[in-house]
Amino acid sequence: MDFETLVQTRKSVRGFTSEPVSRAVIEEVIEVAKRAPSSMNTQPWHIHVLSGEPLEEVRRRNMEELIAGAKPKRDIMRSDIVCEVANIPEDEVIMTSVAMGYPDDSFPANAVRSDREANSDFVRYVGFAD
Ligand SMILES: Cc1cc2nc3c(=O)[nH]c(=O)nc-3n(C[C@H](O)[C@H](O)[C@H](O)COP(=O)(O)O)c2cc1C
Repeated sequence: MDFETLVQTRKSVRGFTSEPVSRAVIEEVIEVAKRAPSSMNTQPWHIHVLSGEPLEEVRRRNMEELIAGAKPKRDIMRSDIVCEVANIPEDEVIMTSVAMGYPDDSFPANAVRSDREANSDFVRYVGFAD
């Protein structure tokens, strides 16, 4: 698949089957992802990958927090719960979390195809002749 097709056909997955993603698959993904550029090739990332019981614990504790009345927060991806369960050192900041899994095709939200604004709504060209 070429890159443009990949980008044009991708979509967010919000419901996953219970099939775990193997460590081998994740290692393959990271192998490709680490080709991303970084300033002076500092490669300033650390990746913590959770599966099995630790992942279940994060899910359970996040849910318990919400049920107990905690406001849903945009930064739940950087939650203290994740740091604690994954034993992330205090001098590391979670920049983002990525859910990985296999899509559950029966999950209604997985059928959503989102739109994008027209370029003219958010692009300004400066210095072009045309
Ligand atoms: C940083 C970030 C956080 C997001 N958080 C959520 C979320 O909490 N819940 C959700 O259903 N989708 C979340 N999304 C998915 C966006 O809603 C989605 O990217 C957007 O609606 C466009 O749809 P698409 O990814 O299918 O093209 C998030 C996306 C990004 C990039």
